[in-house]
Amino acid sequence: MAITGVLRPGHVRLRVLDLDEGVRHYRDVLGLQEMGRDDQGRVYFKAWDERDHNSLVLREADEAGMDAMAFKVSDKATLDKLEADIQAFGLSTERIPAGEMLETGERVIFQAPTGHFFELYAEKTDVGNGMPYVNPEVWVQDQKGINPVRYDHCLLYGPNIDQVEKLFTEVLGFYTTENVLMEDGNSNLAVFMSCSNKAHDIAFVMHPEPGKLHHLSFLLDSWEGVLKAADIMSMNRVSIDIGPTRHGITRGTTIYAFDPSGNRFETFAGGYQTYPDNHRITWTFDQVGPAIFYHDRQLNERFLSVVS
Ligand SMILES: [Fe+2]
Repeated sequence: MAITGVLRPGHVRLRVLDLDEGVRHYRDVLGLQEMGRDDQGRVYFKAWDERDHNSLVLREADEAGMDAMAFKVSDKATLDKLEADIQAFGLSTERIPAGEMLETGERVIFQAPTGHFFELYAEKTDVGNGMPYVNPEVWVQDQKGINPVRYDHCLLYGPNIDQVEKLFTEVLGFYTTENVLMEDGNSNLAVFMSCSNKAHDIAFVMHPEPGKLHHLSFLLDSWEGVLKAADIMSMNRVSIDIGPTRHGITRGTTIYAFDPSGNRFETFAGGYQTYPDNHRITWTFDQVGPAIFYHDRQLNERFLSVVS
């Protein structure tokens, strides 16, 4: 197994202002599968081609935003080792017992220097993707909504992104695929990091307020799917931020929109594949426009300022 340690983004725990409205959005418009509800009233979802039980957990709260982003690690020994390494880095950790989240094993939670909470876990029930593991078909019929393949990554806003890059690269085994420099040509405005061969599994943008969510992102399998996602958003009067367009960073084709609570989400396709030995790509401050929106070549104000 070449990918060890941290395997992939596993789930996001998201706050919504109105649970029913949130469920309607993520189930009926995005087309995620509702997987269950727990005794805290949280609602669990997964995308069709994900095999583990859940990748998005909604809870109702007075303020939108992200409670935590979680990564699946390869096994329990890795969970123990990474917890010790995170503590050695200078952060405190807590254990959340198995079963606190539906069908999910013990989690290690910690707060990163950007103010965000991250969780690591090794076990989650494999419920499959609706097709057998022996002689499967190629997709499941009767799907609805935008119908992403999987939850893919988050882009988070907060301070101290140099420290968080150090945490993710030196402790959690990620590598930086792309960075955007500040006006000084030296410090980072943004870092994009991978724990796999995806162009990014997580990204951070420097922002004075800690712990903010810029977007959570769902993968589609084609550019046509991105266009269709925009159609479905318009049919359902979803508030679209920008797109369909393409990023210079990662080269993904994309559309950004807001859920009914104001959490930004992305549906995207494509982007390059990368490997840990690839030279990182750097964008200078004067090219931040095409780095983010390759066609418009400039940022819209919302992209920089609206976070949840
Ligand atoms: Fe994204």
